[in-house]
Amino acid sequence: MLRSSSGSREAILTRLRAGNGELLSGTTLARELGISRMAVWKRIEALRREGYGIEAVRRKGYRLVAEVDALTPDCVTPLLPDGLFRPDLYRFYGKTGSTNDLAVQLARGGAGEGTVVVADRQTQGRGRLGRVWSSPPGINLYFSLVLRPPLEPRFAAQLTLLAGLALGEAITLAGVSGITIKWPNDLLLGGRKLGGILTEMDAEPDRVRFVVVGVGVNVNGDEKSFPAELRDQAVSLLTVDGRRFQRATLLASFLKVFEKWYHCYRQEGFAPVRQGWLAMARIQGRRVEVNLLRERFIGRALDMDGDGFLLVEREDGVVSRVVAGDVTLLEPK
Ligand code: BTN
Repeated sequence: MLRSSSGSREAILTRLRAGNGELLSGTTLARELGISRMAVWKRIEALRREGYGIEAVRRKGYRLVAEVDALTPDCVTPLLPDGLFRPDLYRFYGKTGSTNDLAVQLARGGAGEGTVVVADRQTQGRGRLGRVWSSPPGINLYFSLVLRPPLEPRFAAQLTLLAGLALGEAITLAGVSGITIKWPNDLLLGGRKLGGILTEMDAEPDRVRFVVVGVGVNVNGDEKSFPAELRDQAVSLLTVDGRRFQRATLLASFLKVFEKWYHCYRQEGFAPVRQGWLAMARIQGRRVEVNLLRERFIGRALDMDGDGFLLVEREDGVVSRVVAGDVTLLEPK
């Protein structure tokens, strides 16, 4: 029987996956796929070169021990549900300056709501307040969403809070416990930074044209993958949990959870997001240090208001509404 080599590549993968870690002999694979044992071996070698972990045991056969950890469309789009983030709007780049810059550029050129720009590596990854977002290849998630909500510009920052909540939920669903979020855009694990969100927008005075929500998550890097000056502040899922995570699965799970919250936000407004955010942030009643552009003060976080700003009671009893800046959680006192 004649089959195309890409057809037998897919067929071998499907068969190995269905084997659930059982050894499958070359003879069985060759017979089932209608190719020679030599052709099976060649396909297996090619899959290994792509990054699949395939164990070969002499005289017994092959088994799949690790999926490839790529973010290419063939790895991610089959995992996307029908809806906001349609497969045809998925854009993958091996390397780019910043996925936020690229998403802004695409959105200016008319890219639709639900466009997702993903990179394996960024050469100019950016964080909030002009900080650099270190973006080495092969181990983390760097991506940006294009959204076009009917929103006044002053509410766009609520999408940062929504994204933080969705990210925390997706990582919790992956079996990692202890995730918290910190106002306005940090994802923390064990009190250290696991990820961050950078929201940018293009707007008229009373209407948002588009919002770009950029997300970075430290996934499979070890300590050495962080810049030396951040090693005591940053963590990855691997350094805390000890397991490696499939980036494609995490990304698809985030997009699914994000879509759920985004839909809820569009239907019901910010109130349910605020509730979810406060539950995950566990910030109420905590002592915090607030760093504004020209001022720094210590106080107690009381609540988040209905617009998404933090209410902090200063030591003299005055309550401040924090609309910008950095908030650091202090030890409970
Ligand atoms: C922060 O914590 O300050 C925000 C970090 C946001 C990083 C992501 S990585 C993908 C996207 N592209 C960027 O240049 N930045 C965001």
